[in-house]
Amino acid sequence: MIVTIRHAEPDDYDRVISSVDAWWGGRHMVSMLPRLFFTYFRPWTYVADHGEAIVGFLAGFRSQTNPSQVYCHFIGVDPAWRSRGVGEALYQRLFVAAAAHACHEVLAVKAPTNQGSIAFHIRLGFTLLPGHDSDSEIPFTPAYDGPGEDRVRFRKSLRDSLMRSPVIC
Ligand SMILES: CC(C)(COP(=O)(O)OP(=O)(O)OC[C@H]1O[C@@H](n2cnc3c(N)ncnc32)[C@H](O)[C@@H]1OP(=O)(O)O)[C@@H](O)C(=O)NCCC(=O)NCCS
Repeated sequence: MIVTIRHAEPDDYDRVISSVDAWWGGRHMVSMLPRLFFTYFRPWTYVADHGEAIVGFLAGFRSQTNPSQVYCHFIGVDPAWRSRGVGEALYQRLFVAAAAHACHEVLAVKAPTNQGSIAFHIRLGFTLLPGHDSDSEIPFTPAYDGPGEDRVRFRKSLRDSLMRSPVIC
């Protein structure tokens, strides 16, 4: 069956938030995904539907500081649906929306321990921004999001973002 990508509805939050800890392998992620993405940032937040089920989501927003930038805060796919193009389809939807609003780049930060997410972002054409730890193979910024919260910073130029073919799930 087809997976479709659509803008999030406010009611989607309760369905998504009940899944995120499991989708992140049991890590406590709930506190990092507030409802506001499904209310105030709906133009930049998407869900992937398979029938009645939500099998993925992307929570983002357009920068209020630099309107040419879009930021992806969270992206998650149901483990049963991984490696089938759902994550890429969610990002492609964000790229298209960003380009339509004359935004030039998409930014994200991820934990350096999240090797899968790092590989995924590199595969989608993100580049790693310089970090402060030059000894690491993956440059990261220590304490970027507070004490103990190191982050890898990603940037993707939208000039080549639409080169890859749209994904059919
Ligand atoms: C990261 C995540 C969103 C990827 O979603 P997905 O639907 O499995 O990704 P896709 O199937 O669209 O993959 C797109 C490309 O990235 C690659 N990729 C995806 N996950 C990868 C991984 N863990 N390691 C290496 N490459 C990966 C795929 O192979 C694919 O490349 P290909 O076209 O050459 O085959 C998903 O694994 C996930 O939800 N992880 C847990 C949550 C998380 O860590 N989110 C990111 C931090 S907010």
